[in-house]
Amino acid sequence: MKILMVCLGNICRSPLAEGIMKQKIREAAFDWEVDSAGTGHWHAGQLPDRRSIIVAGQHGIDITDQRARQFQADDFERFDKIFVMDTQNLRDVLRHARSDGHRAKVELILDQTHPGQDRNVPDPYYDDDGFEEVFEMLDRACELFVARGDWST
Ligand code: 4NP
Repeated sequence: MKILMVCLGNICRSPLAEGIMKQKIREAAFDWEVDSAGTGHWHAGQLPDRRSIIVAGQHGIDITDQRARQFQADDFERFDKIFVMDTQNLRDVLRHARSDGHRAKVELILDQTHPGQDRNVPDPYYDDDGFEEVFEMLDRACELFVARGDWST
């Protein structure tokens, strides 16, 4: 299983999602790959946001090996599952889809905890206090995905 986490900048939410999912996978001893990307190009090459690095660290996860990159159409070939953080990411990613197979790989990550409710992981970029809440949402979503045991969709 190869999983891609996608947000807008690839510096706040999706680096946390990547770090959290990698930790869950290590704990489960699964041989999966996880990466992350942003629909925007502005932060390409940068470390995750300092506030994401701090909140991950408070939970025992080091995300300082990550560097931002932009989502590309080729990611539909490289990954089995593409988790997006919000409905804007969903629209932006689906614009690159070339088949129903591609479209079927994309899902809002909070569908794991709240199926069918179109819930967004709030963008914490302008909200210093939002990072812990984002971490907890992503932690629950990743936990449920790994525990579910049905990864056909
Ligand atoms: P992210 O947060 O999509 O969770 O990485 C953002 C990071 C940067 C910007 C917006 C959102 N920005 O506008 O630069």
